[in-house]
This record gives sequence, structure tokens and C-alpha cells, in this order.
Amino acid sequence: MSPSILNADLADLANEVRRLGRAAEWVHLDVMDNHFVPNLTFGLPLVASLLAHIDVPADCHLMIDDPDRWAPGYAEAGAGSVTFHVEAARHPLQVARDIRSAGARAGIALKPGTPIDAIHEALPSVDMILVMTVEPGFGGQSFMADMLPKVRQARLLADASDADIWVQVDGGVDAKTIELCADAGATVFVAGSAVYRAEDPAEAVLQLRALAEGAIRP
Ligand code: DX5
Ligand code: ZN
Repeated sequence: MSPSILNADLADLANEVRRLGRAAEWVHLDVMDNHFVPNLTFGLPLVASLLAHIDVPADCHLMIDDPDRWAPGYAEAGAGSVTFHVEAARHPLQVARDIRSAGARAGIALKPGTPIDAIHEALPSVDMILVMTVEPGFGGQSFMADMLPKVRQARLLADASDADIWVQVDGGVDAKTIELCADAGATVFVAGSAVYRAEDPAEAVLQLRALAEGAIRP
């Protein structure tokens, strides 16, 4: 489980992450630059500061142009996982390598309109495939069930690889949709509004995980 703080109280981020307790393995940080996506959130200085205040590893989702230049910095700052968009990268394979060299797991993300083939070149250096299940940019959107075939394709690629590649879904993941994602082969689940709109975010994470575990294929 990788809860997204996009819809949390952004002025009190460290405490918002602490509200997750030990329920989540990761915290998902959505970096948006108002160029790659039509929204603006925060960048490296804030992520670096936050990391000093939290124990849970950071799963940075970079919805930004020019990840070739910016992505390794998030790994150098101490993020455990750094995911960039294949659509934005000039040299995806090199970006993934640079993230790994800087000490983080390298993730590659696909917008809903991008076919799975787009990640072919980078795959040998990738630790996670993120299949977006909404158009990136905003929390609280509806899950796109027509992305499930792409989740299955990502699962096949991951299974065919010798490396331990994770399949992540992000966007509209909640108690109604998480089982569909797990059944299609996802193993890492981002949930923003389903967690932070709940009265008890930690409890919401535990409930979502239980649903996913019940639906995951052996
Ligand atoms: C959307 C972000 C997501 C978002 C998910 O562009 O990448 O991580 O926070 O929020 P929900 O779970 O509300 O769709
Ligand atoms: Zn995200």
C-alpha cells in the first residue's frame, strides 16, 4: 500500500504521514510541475525536507517534464522509489539507470493513452511499472476500468523478467476497485482520497490491503 498525500493537509504533511502509523509500507508523493500535467504541487526541496521528518519510505511519482534532469535528485535526497513518466523522458533507459545508481528503485509510469510497448526499451532497468488508472493531475477522479487490460500486460512483462518488477496502479483506487486491480496483477496500490477522506487513514489502509490480499493471484 502506498497512500497518496495529494488530498491530505499539505500544510501539515509530516503529521499527515504519521497518521498512517505502521499501516502503509510507502507514502506516495505526487510531484506536479504544471507543464507535464495541468496542476502544480511541490518539488524536491519540500520532498527532501519531509524525508527528514518521516520514517516510512517515500514513493515519489514525478509528473514533470524533463525527468532526465530532475529524477535522480529525488533518489539522492533519499526517496526509496522514484517513478517518472515515459512520455516525458528523452532517454527512459538512462533515467531508470540514473535513479538506480542514486540508490532508489526505478519506476516507469504510463498515462492512460500510452500503450505498454512504450516501456520496452527501459524495461531492463526498471523496478516498477505504474499503470495510471486516471489521467494524471488530480486526486479524486473515477477509476478507468478500461486500463485493466494494460495492468494485465504489465503483469505479464513483470513475470517474464528475471528481475523483481512490481506493478503499481494509481488513480481512483478504493474499496470498490482495488480487487479488480489485484486480480489483474497489480501488487502496489496507490490510494489518495480513499485513505485521506476516511476518518482514520491507517484503518482505511488496512481495509484496502485486506481486500487486495483477498483478490491477489497466488
Ligand atoms: C493523480 C495522482 C494520484 C492521486 C490519486 O494524478 O498521481 O496519486 O493522488 O488520488 P485518488 O486515489 O484520489 O485517485
Ligand atoms: Zn500518483
